[in-house]
Amino acid sequence: MRLDKLLANMGFGTRKTVKDVLKSKEVTVNGLVEKEGKKQVNPEKDAIAVSGEAIQYQEFVYFMLHKPQGVVSATTDNVHKTVIDLLQPQDQSRDPFPVGRLDKDTEGLLILTNDGTLAHNLLSPKKHVDKCYQASIEGIVDEQDIQEFASGITLDDGFNCQSAKLEIESIDVEKEQSVIRVTIHEGKFHQVKRMFEAVDKSVSYLKRLSMGEVQLDETLKLGEYRPLTKAELDSLTHS
Ligand code: URA
Repeated sequence: MRLDKLLANMGFGTRKTVKDVLKSKEVTVNGLVEKEGKKQVNPEKDAIAVSGEAIQYQEFVYFMLHKPQGVVSATTDNVHKTVIDLLQPQDQSRDPFPVGRLDKDTEGLLILTNDGTLAHNLLSPKKHVDKCYQASIEGIVDEQDIQEFASGITLDDGFNCQSAKLEIESIDVEKEQSVIRVTIHEGKFHQVKRMFEAVDKSVSYLKRLSMGEVQLDETLKLGEYRPLTKAELDSLTHS
């Protein structure tokens, strides 16, 4: 790959501004000063350093985003802001994409990566990675709903969901609203909303709390993100 792309990928600026880093003669390839951004390097074999510090190139990036409402889970969109627009330019330059989708009005945990294999494994229906959501529901959720979710809800298109764990957090009898947690194993389009429609209720707010063992880091404000820790990443690759 080009040296300027590698430097930009590793956070030393944009493809344009790394020119200045190169001009400053601070970059060495195998011990020799290199000023040409177009120089081809092999991150696996070449020893690349900036200001004497070796660069450990990472092929893949893995981020946890606290997705806010109003942005779409896509890499490009002609109308709406995307989750990629929330990333810093140097992180965007790694070409990450969202692992699965959250609706535009859903908040919470979204994993972004450029590792196609990990994304494929996490989304594979065979792997049954649990996804836990918190939701506000219009209607009073009761024991019968819990039983129906446990037996497997049938969606409007005839799809039979696997058993889902529904837990009631609180009920407001006067307003006829409930706050619940639900854990599902698949990732059908609008699945949680459609599961509640199947029991004649509607979702007014939805937030994803976890995916597999990875919990949303509540210290991240809406729209903020951070790299996955090694433990989080290991839990996903071994799930
Ligand atoms: N289920 C939904 O209905 N929406 C989401 O965004 C995620 C799960």
